[in-house]
Amino acid sequence: MDGRIRFGVLGCSSVARRRTMPAIAACPEATLSVVASRDPEKAKAFAAEFGCAAAGYDELLEHDDVDAVYLPLPTALHGPWGAKVLAAGKHLLVEKPAATSADETRELVRAATGADRLLRENFTFLHHPQHARVAQLVADGRIGEPRTFTGEFCFPPLPDGDIRYVPQLGGGALLDAGVYPLRAAQLLLGDDLRVVGGALRMDPQRGVDVAGQALLVSAGGVFASAQFGFQHAYGSRYTLWGSAGRIVVDRAFTPQATWPPVLRIERQDHVEELTLPPAHQFLGAVASFAAAALAGRTARHPAEQAGLASMVRTAELVDAVRHAAV
Ligand SMILES: NC(=O)c1ccc[n+]([C@@H]2O[C@H](COP(=O)([O-])OP(=O)(O)OC[C@H]3O[C@@H](n4cnc5c(N)ncnc54)[C@H](OP(=O)(O)O)[C@@H]3O)[C@@H](O)[C@H]2O)c1
Repeated sequence: MDGRIRFGVLGCSSVARRRTMPAIAACPEATLSVVASRDPEKAKAFAAEFGCAAAGYDELLEHDDVDAVYLPLPTALHGPWGAKVLAAGKHLLVEKPAATSADETRELVRAATGADRLLRENFTFLHHPQHARVAQLVADGRIGEPRTFTGEFCFPPLPDGDIRYVPQLGGGALLDAGVYPLRAAQLLLGDDLRVVGGALRMDPQRGVDVAGQALLVSAGGVFASAQFGFQHAYGSRYTLWGSAGRIVVDRAFTPQATWPPVLRIERQDHVEELTLPPAHQFLGAVASFAAAALAGRTARHPAEQAGLASMVRTAELVDAVRHAAV
């Protein structure tokens, strides 16, 4: 190690190419060592584009110059491959959601703790400062007492054959998109949210949910709802509505690095719009992971416990939505 975390990327995926690999390349605390694919030609093409070595999946795990693996495989493969990565003694940055169920997610945490390696789920929106600003506005009393959170993450139908339409690969709108408003509700209302109802729209041909809605309530009695799906025009926002006003965050989950977020604060007598500086949330996620790994932090470190607990809680909420849903 030369003061940088050396990444291996397991799977030549779309999000890796568009978002995470450029972020690793741009991060001063990280470098790309090797990219792996099931298809050697695909791995070579990615490797040429990013100036790193190419390998197969198992071969990548044997590379001495890989400290950490970024895992952007289909969601059902996160658990099995994540376990192999940790058993190989590498840190693990796994794409969201970390696994398909709470049991599988707890198993990943146990594996990381046992191996004494770092484990993070790549929910990059958590690294965008706009949400800390929302929390500060709430703490400052700008909307009074929070009463209702409404989060939405929806987009139009995907091409046939997309991994999100394949049940065996962990497809479905709840696992792919629903986890965003669920995690945002946890962020703003706390991990003690519980699910009190839900609905999922199943695609009978494909056998996956393509849209849904969940109703939750916090221990303090704040209501939350999450809407998600592959059947709507694009929408990625949340609203926190309080006793004296509300805050609307548009482009809440996937703003581009150049997008200046606008927080809209609506009160009875006026509307205010705060335009914030753009932030590169993929770079933020990679930089935070690399800094933690360089500082010797692993899943055993006290400072990692809250993030791991929230990760498991999201998976428990997903299980509960499935259980409650009509
Ligand atoms: N954080 C974010 O903002 C964000 C955004 C989008 C997606 N994601 C997450 O990232 C993961 C990947 O999503 P994606 O859109 O990048 O998917 P994708 O483009 O379909 O990539 C998945 C990759 O997995 C590998 N793979 C291994 N076994 C496979 C199989 N049986 N079928 C298909 N692919 C297989 C393939 O790589 P090889 O062919 O090279 O082996 C493929 O390129 C998902 O968990 C998703 O939820 C996160």
